[in-house]
Amino acid sequence: MKDKIKKLTERKEKAKLGGGEEKIKSQHDKGKLSARERIEILVDENSFEEIDMFVKHRATDFGLDKQQYPGDGVVTGFARIDGRPVAIYSQDFTVFGGSLSGAHAEKIVKVMKLAMKAGIPVIGLNDSGGARIQEGVVSLGGYADIFLLNTLASGVIPHISVILGPCAGGAVYSPAITDFIFMVKNTSYMFVTGPNVVKTVTHEDVDFESLGGAETHASKSGVAHFVFNNEVETLLKVRKLLSYIPLNYRDKSPEISFDYSKIIPEPKLDDIIPQNSNKPYDMKEIIRLLADGQDFFESQSQYAENIICGFCRIGGMAVGVIANQPQVLAGVLDINASVKAARFVRFCDAFNIPMLVLVDVPGFLPGTEQEWNGIIKHGAKLLFAFSEATVPKITVIVRKAYGGAYDVMNSKHIRGDFNFAWPSAEIAVMGPKGAVEIIFKKEITKAAEPEKETEKKLSEYIEKFANPFVSAERGYIDDVIVPRETKQKLISAFNLLRTKVDSNPKKKHGNIPL
Ligand code: HXC
Repeated sequence: MKDKIKKLTERKEKAKLGGGEEKIKSQHDKGKLSARERIEILVDENSFEEIDMFVKHRATDFGLDKQQYPGDGVVTGFARIDGRPVAIYSQDFTVFGGSLSGAHAEKIVKVMKLAMKAGIPVIGLNDSGGARIQEGVVSLGGYADIFLLNTLASGVIPHISVILGPCAGGAVYSPAITDFIFMVKNTSYMFVTGPNVVKTVTHEDVDFESLGGAETHASKSGVAHFVFNNEVETLLKVRKLLSYIPLNYRDKSPEISFDYSKIIPEPKLDDIIPQNSNKPYDMKEIIRLLADGQDFFESQSQYAENIICGFCRIGGMAVGVIANQPQVLAGVLDINASVKAARFVRFCDAFNIPMLVLVDVPGFLPGTEQEWNGIIKHGAKLLFAFSEATVPKITVIVRKAYGGAYDVMNSKHIRGDFNFAWPSAEIAVMGPKGAVEIIFKKEITKAAEPEKETEKKLSEYIEKFANPFVSAERGYIDDVIVPRETKQKLISAFNLLRTKVDSNPKKKHGNIPL
């Protein structure tokens, strides 16, 4: 037995070296960690249990039969993060550039299937040259097997993709189906076709970084949800994200014990909204003042900045926040903001994460650019997402809630559970100036002094409509609250909604306007 154990240990030690020490050094020289080093940083100490360490590819063409590396370029297994189980696959660039063979794909599929049965999140660490060219269509089939499973697992278990090197061609579609994409500045990139193909087809000169680097996907395409400076920081932030989300769709997010005696009014909230209702302010200040420990973990922070999405804790409970940002484009809803928020809302709803919606929205962005690119169908995504969501949903209108955007931003009418407004709220079909110019057009043109008449009508309109009370009188707003008391109100409401049950009519699936 001793001999056998010795041999086993030797085989395991060999497998752990992947493509060998030289290749690991070359990986380090590029500022990248090895597949196993990444797992060690990501998970709780000594918690990783590997499977399929001895799997080999079965290809023989192009001399591949003479190039065998146990594990075949991907490390798979299970571990714990903050004591909770997760499934992991980590591509090993030191073996055939982390390229995906049939056997490599089977390993990923196996670990994902086990994760679905166990009901635990999957974290994929991607660092791969794409389809293993020597295996041809077998490799393409392997990708498709992964795409199918990504799709079937969507909404069952959370799936996080961390891009830590190249991710090109059709390979990008696996991360794209998953819930969140992390990227690292300067060492990771994603694109459907690389700079050379781009040059041939469109004659554009573009380098890897500007075509598909982390900054590009954080700010231009919105493909990346989280971008950090280096691998260690990125992996630690994956741990942070997981702290807000449950293991699967039947589970609840971990809760942190909360000292209720600490709930005291926050006077700073009374002073954030400017006197002049057209003046911008930073909505993130409000979010931080409402969040436990002022800790807000923002998703897609550089993309469609006119809407803010992210996680925080309120009274110890994990909450998804969706908020208009008056500091950018006056907080207007446009195509990118609608799509960004719709996807976030659907994630929260799929995984039982209660939502807090903070509203200061002047409406949808007008213009040919928006209309021709389909603001109608894209705006409808957000409306659809909020409408179908059955998790606890609380809205606070802090200032403007105009037009269709009032309805969309989790209004009472689309099943907001508690809809509060601050006294500064303005809830109406449109802003005072536009409204007065339309409904009092005749009076204003006929008046001896049109400017004076406009001013008079404006103050009449503001007095009548630009406040929360018309809505509160109808019960569309459950309460008009003093800003400093918002956190108490939210904690009470979220606690009350712990046992909320709501459902949608039975169907195969809805037809969200994609
Ligand atoms: C087989 C590959 C490979 C691949 C890299 N290698 N990509 N082997 N299949 N796809 C091998 C290299 O031959 C090399 O082996 C080792 O990995 C490291 O690669 P280098 O080129 O030395 O590394 P680097 O300079 O860092 O460049 C990395 C790279 C480049 C940019 C990823 O290797 C590259 O362009 N690879 C091809 C990418 C590609 O076109 N893939 C197919 C995409 S289409 P040695 O033995 O020399 O160390 C696709 C379709 C998916 O993926 C479809 C899904 C539906």
